[in-house]
Amino acid sequence: MSEQPGMESVLDFLTVPVVRLEEGSARVLFTNAAARALPFSLVPPTAALDAEGAPLPPEQHPVQRAARGEQLEGELFRWVTPEGVRTFVIHSRVDRSRSPGVVTLTFQDISPWRHAEEDLRRALEARDSFLSVASHELKSPITVLQLVLERLQRGARRETELSGSQVAERLEPALRQVRRLGVLVQNLLDVSRARNNHFVLDRERFELGSLVREVCERFTEQSRQAGSTLVAEDCPLVEVHWDRLRVEQALSNLVTNAIKYGAGGPISVRAELQDGAVSLRVEDRGIGVTDGDRERIFNPFERAASGHRVESLGLGLYIVREIARAHGGTVGVSGREGGGSCFTIRLPVEVTEVVSE
Ligand SMILES: Nc1ncnc2c1ncn2[C@@H]1O[C@H](COP(=O)(O)OP(=O)(O)O)[C@@H](O)[C@H]1O
Ligand SMILES: [Mg+2]
Repeated sequence: MSEQPGMESVLDFLTVPVVRLEEGSARVLFTNAAARALPFSLVPPTAALDAEGAPLPPEQHPVQRAARGEQLEGELFRWVTPEGVRTFVIHSRVDRSRSPGVVTLTFQDISPWRHAEEDLRRALEARDSFLSVASHELKSPITVLQLVLERLQRGARRETELSGSQVAERLEPALRQVRRLGVLVQNLLDVSRARNNHFVLDRERFELGSLVREVCERFTEQSRQAGSTLVAEDCPLVEVHWDRLRVEQALSNLVTNAIKYGAGGPISVRAELQDGAVSLRVEDRGIGVTDGDRERIFNPFERAASGHRVESLGLGLYIVREIARAHGGTVGVSGREGGGSCFTIRLPVEVTEVVSE
């Protein structure tokens, strides 16, 4: 070791990995503690990749370049490590006050920033795609609404006799679109509320089973049209103290998804009381959720990559998560044996009280 001991302890104190080499031979003279702590080696024969991740020929390895006397000024390189790809910014200097010269390399690990940048880029992409989907979703009911109203107006101008029931019939598609718009705008409002932490709960006491049955009844027809049967399993008799409308909304979002992504298979809704919390489970036998998507789909604007539908805004699960959180609970998804998925909302029961029959 040709290093002065004082210098070594200073370099060991640095959190940035430092490697010192002999110019020309590339013989390693010193590696500081941060470099020694890495679970992989920064010097050849360990291969380095360029900033885009393409393998480099041995003579282009940054350590070889620095050993030839080249000065590296903050170039980006990657290493494939047992813990994934790491990105380093590398600087090098040659000290020729000795012979042969001594090359000092510093390796600044910017992987955490790289990941943060990647997450940010993803979130922005999801938001941009959301904006285009949302504007399309807002536009199409308005177009239908306009057509219906113009037709009615033309009818009225021609003063043809339109009976009350004819008017009512013609207004039906307009009303459907207004309802669709209402749901959409409500979702947007909920998202902005949740983002600003203004999800204020309006708690009331009610019997859990009534809520489960009500939601299932409301979606029976819609699920039948999708070819699915929707079954509410037996529910424990328990009184809960929740925001009924919000929990209904959360459960409805899960049931809507089960219908949408359930591939026409049976859907079941089940409630269980366990350790002071109620689990509301919605199970389908559809396309399922891959391991990689399990966390992500609960973020706003996020949709799983496959099977994008135009009417999908990626807000439903985010709203479910925020409703669960506001109640001090959680939501998660697990796979189902034989395909499909099982979403579970788990909410604490403030007063656990078995309702007497
Ligand atoms: N029951 C399900 N089975 C499979 N994938 C689902 C299910 N529910 C949700 N997903 C996935 O999660 C994504 C986010 O769901 P959500 O937030 O409700 O948005 P949206 O229904 O508008 O797409 C969906 O786009 C879909 O990819
Ligand atoms: Mg949805």
